Amino acid sequence: MPTEAAEPRAWWKQAVVYQIYPRSFRDSDGDGVGDLRGIAEKLDYLVALGIDIVWLCPVYASPNVDNGYDVADYRAIAPEFGTMADFDHLAREMASRGLKLVMDLVFNHSSDQHRWFRSARASKDSPYRDYYIWRDEPNDWRAVFGGGAWTWNEATGDWYFHIFAPEQPDLNWENPALRRELWEIMRFWAGKGVAGFRLDVVSFFSKKPFDAPQQGGIFPFYANGPKVHEYLREMRREVLDPLDLMTVGEAPGVTAEEAPLYVDPARGELDMIFHFDHAGIDRTPEDFWKPAPWKLSDLKEILTRWDRALAGRGWNSLYLGNHDLPRLLSRFGDTGAHRQAAAKLFATLLLTLRGTPYIYQGDEIGMINTPFENIGEYRDIVARNGWAEAQAQGRAESEFLADHILVSRDHARTPMQWDASSHGGFTAGAPWIRANPDFSATNVAAQRADSDSVFHYYRRMIALRKATPALIHGDYVLIDAGHPDVFAYVRTLGDVLLLVVLNVSGSAVDIGDLGRDGATVIGNYDGRGALRPFEARVLRMAGETGEFASPACSMNDVDPVYMGLDRRGEA
Ligand code: NOJ
Repeated sequence: MPTEAAEPRAWWKQAVVYQIYPRSFRDSDGDGVGDLRGIAEKLDYLVALGIDIVWLCPVYASPNVDNGYDVADYRAIAPEFGTMADFDHLAREMASRGLKLVMDLVFNHSSDQHRWFRSARASKDSPYRDYYIWRDEPNDWRAVFGGGAWTWNEATGDWYFHIFAPEQPDLNWENPALRRELWEIMRFWAGKGVAGFRLDVVSFFSKKPFDAPQQGGIFPFYANGPKVHEYLREMRREVLDPLDLMTVGEAPGVTAEEAPLYVDPARGELDMIFHFDHAGIDRTPEDFWKPAPWKLSDLKEILTRWDRALAGRGWNSLYLGNHDLPRLLSRFGDTGAHRQAAAKLFATLLLTLRGTPYIYQGDEIGMINTPFENIGEYRDIVARNGWAEAQAQGRAESEFLADHILVSRDHARTPMQWDASSHGGFTAGAPWIRANPDFSATNVAAQRADSDSVFHYYRRMIALRKATPALIHGDYVLIDAGHPDVFAYVRTLGDVLLLVVLNVSGSAVDIGDLGRDGATVIGNYDGRGALRPFEARVLRMAGETGEFASPACSMNDVDPVYMGLDRRGEA
């Protein structure tokens, strides 16, 4: 099996991506909604951080039932974000700084306000009728945002299919004319200098027969339909290869074993996918919106399984937060005394695994969940629909929110915290969603002035990664899989062996001699010895790397004595 190092070192493998949620990044005109001019104002900040690629969540015309993931016109900019001239300005400003732009394409569904759907729902004779999915009878499948996946259409006397909200009707990828329209949209944006696309729920494009009764989690019913790979190969042939575009597909329901089907370069489909295994680590298997406890050993197992699955057969994408998840420190880290250390620890994890790292806006300053106080403060459709269902079941607001505050997508969508002025310097007006009151202490301005801040740690960590081929391309081997608190692994390339040791707990942990002879490359505490709460260390080790370099080497094969590892924590 060829190792990844033998493959061409594509630019997007070396890159660090920053995800922007435009609605909440920076408002330049005081209407309370972030915008394209606001993003353009902040590009030097991204350059200072060391970013190469910006992924922009949807900025297309939309009625915003799902904050832009319901597109009414794929070739128009939403007025609240600005104009096409503002987009072109942003693209030029990015290009002049060497920043690449990745657009978010929402092609599984459109808005019900898209002209295709308005025409399709008005008459069975519409030329766009077959762009959507219609049945005389619905089945029992459920929608991701609650309720059934079929909605009655009075005008034509039948039902249309939607995996998400009724206002997000699914597109019928079976129709070649629809696919040709989508390729044209991609060419339109590529013509504007876009370097690639993030494809929303790519794993859902091809539908499975609507026959099996839906039990358990719903993602498996929607993912990996029979023609998805055919469609992606067509996309590659028609658009991606001729225009040299990079792609990352959001892939709920795709397992590590299935992942190479999407990203093995030999198959000519996508460059990367986002899996959901760790996104769902703190959720129940049946219901993504229900919180459940998580364990570090599971996180290690998931990230390791994905590394192995793609070693030599594709390329991973790495993320610990995004616009659909609560803040990573609130989920996995610490929001109290060890907040700074924990933020730096997760920066270390994200930037020392194999794959392309995606930083979610605000994580680089250690933003945390917002203490929303009542249902009226939430904005997301998931909160609104969940609350409506809870009310129908006679549940109290406090009971609903006790769960929902742990899974809410709104935590990721509060205003970016730029400084200590009102609303964190996000807007001069009233923000569309409340700012986290924590902005007065945690903000970009304060952190740029403090060389020991989370921001500067991210900046140093990004620079280290870019200067260290072993951190990008090197093999990865987990050490001590069962340790309940320590996440430790090595990255090796040629004669370079780096040891990463992370104490993902609020207590000190004795690690014996692990890494004793190594030279510190980066870390979030000074000195050595036992690991302190949320301590992260990256060490360069002398010695043979051969033992770790083989992709056949399983995590249990590694000789703990070699690293001087104390295995007392193992189950
Ligand atoms: C995934 C997106 O990330 C999420 O924000 C959106 O609600 C759904 N897809 C539907 O488009």
